[in-house]
Amino acid sequence: MFETLERFPVDPILGLISAYAADHNPRKIDLGVGVYKDEQGRTPILAAVKAAERIRLEVEDTKTYYPQAGNPVFNREVQRLLFGDDSKACAEQRVHTVQTPGGSGAVKVGAMLLGLARPGAKILVSDPTWINHKALLANSDLDIGSYPYYDSASNRVRFDDMKAAIAALPPRSYVLLQGCCHNPSGADLTLAQWRELAALLRQHEVVPFVDIAYHGLAIGVDEDVAYLRLLAVELPELVVAYSCSKNFGLYRERVGAVSVVGATRDIADNALSQILGVARRLYSVPPAHGQTIVGTILSTPQLRASWLAELTEMRERLNGMRREVAAAINARQQQRDFGFIAGQYGMFSFLGLSVEQIRRLRNEFSIYMVETSRINVAGLNPGNIDYFADAVAAVL
Ligand code: LMR
Repeated sequence: MFETLERFPVDPILGLISAYAADHNPRKIDLGVGVYKDEQGRTPILAAVKAAERIRLEVEDTKTYYPQAGNPVFNREVQRLLFGDDSKACAEQRVHTVQTPGGSGAVKVGAMLLGLARPGAKILVSDPTWINHKALLANSDLDIGSYPYYDSASNRVRFDDMKAAIAALPPRSYVLLQGCCHNPSGADLTLAQWRELAALLRQHEVVPFVDIAYHGLAIGVDEDVAYLRLLAVELPELVVAYSCSKNFGLYRERVGAVSVVGATRDIADNALSQILGVARRLYSVPPAHGQTIVGTILSTPQLRASWLAELTEMRERLNGMRREVAAAINARQQQRDFGFIAGQYGMFSFLGLSVEQIRRLRNEFSIYMVETSRINVAGLNPGNIDYFADAVAAVL
């Protein structure tokens, strides 16, 4: 029977984990998967996470199921984090948040909800977008297309082209927007652009599906969701996918959430019931460990403060490394200006190198990155930045 199966291609991002592990060059650099690393190149467990895990071990007295939507403390706290304490939509009980297995689970469940609400509807994703987005949206009864987003010549967002593509959508379509720290480009919209976008979406009756996987890693915890709070005021309905993988360092625990804002409480309640139905058919109920940690951190003032401090440290290291790498490459060559890296956010930027140049970096220097030339800035540190900049200058 299984002779009918063909080999599924190695994942362009996750496949780099084993390729990097198999390389014995002591100078090797991993700029592949979107995982945070400190100055020593480690991905340590956050102190707030360790403390919350200890609490869980002590106080947990049963392993019976949580309610279908997951741990209510986690759902409430993530909703507050996203929409703020003074959200009108939350006060009107038009918002529901449901725990999912990671941000990928949130994108999948959200996509299926969109397909159920309007079978066959058009949904546009940014060009380029995270490699897995289209795959997660597939088989959800949606017609997937894209809008222009990143201009690799100027390294800027193609905002006018993006708006034109959205304006051309039939009413009651969807658009997938990345909240902050755009994956793979690092180029984000400004708040003024989000405001313009909100007006456009309202005018054309396009519903946003916002994917937030790097919250807190751009400017700050409130700043990085300011646009979302704006959308929730300006628009009657939206869906949000959220990941706790990066900002809580909980990658392997698979912690995420999907939120839906409905035009009325009744509509939101119906949407919630559909989300629970989709989840039941996909994985029944989500795992509990990671969400309990996040729920405990966010609802315990001391742990919350500790998490915020650690998040600030991660963010500042990323932003500092951006400035340093841009300066280091610019100091070594005059062909191109890499200053744009310093003005972008999150883990990723495109170097703008050819596949041939990327393969040379890998084969001759043991520097690993996605073949689109996306680098994870977190893989750079004071110990390898000169080696990296020399190598880039050598292949340019
Ligand atoms: C990435 O883009 O590197 C991360 O989101 C990890 C993944 O699952 O692709």
